[in-house]
Amino acid sequence: MLMTAAKTVLAVPAVFNLYQWLVGAPDCHRRFLAEHVRPQPGERILDIGCGTGASLRFLPAGIDYVGIDISEAYIAHARRLHPGRGTFLVADATRVDFRLEGRFDRAFAFGVLHHLGDREAAMLLGNVMAALAPKGSITTIDPCFVDGQHPVAHFLARHDRGGSVRRPEQLPSLFSAIGQPDIAVVHDMLRVPYSQVIARISRT
Ligand SMILES: C[S@@+](CC[C@H](N)C(=O)[O-])C[C@H]1O[C@@H](n2cnc3c(N)ncnc32)[C@H](O)[C@@H]1O
Repeated sequence: MLMTAAKTVLAVPAVFNLYQWLVGAPDCHRRFLAEHVRPQPGERILDIGCGTGASLRFLPAGIDYVGIDISEAYIAHARRLHPGRGTFLVADATRVDFRLEGRFDRAFAFGVLHHLGDREAAMLLGNVMAALAPKGSITTIDPCFVDGQHPVAHFLARHDRGGSVRRPEQLPSLFSAIGQPDIAVVHDMLRVPYSQVIARISRT
């Protein structure tokens, strides 16, 4: 009951942003982007499931940014927060032919794959891979279950709004049609105990 109410209020953009700030998500965005996505000025960047555009402030100036999210409320909020910085689109990312949006140097999905079933996640990754420039990359980060994780991390993963929190060893099968991702597991990206799996794949 309490968890259901919490999930409902998190759909409100300002509440979602406040929760993210409280748990230390901004620093997690900063580290994820700097250490794993590694965007460069001048690149074309695709932010899949961009929410309210929280990653934008950690991206270098002079990039060409496209953020896409299924939530109209989040995208409306993102447009208000970041006027004139990039393009925000409302769409179900699993159904978009990203090639129609041009070529991307980097694509990332922060906290999105665990909202998708295996089939949808694999479809999304395939569609994004097809729209990458040569040497482009896709990087994802999601909460995960791992043996021996902190009980708080386990609790948060179990009660996440996404219905598909996975174990790290389940990630490669989502990418199998496009190649073998590098996988890393981190436990120290938020202020609270939290286990996350990062997957990265590059186009050769
Ligand atoms: C945990 S939130 C992360 C938001 C954002 N990436 C961030 O870092 O703040 C997951 C996001 O994925 C979006 N999402 C879930 N399924 C989606 C889909 N099929 N297509 C596009 N966005 C989706 C949700 O609306 C939500 O904004």
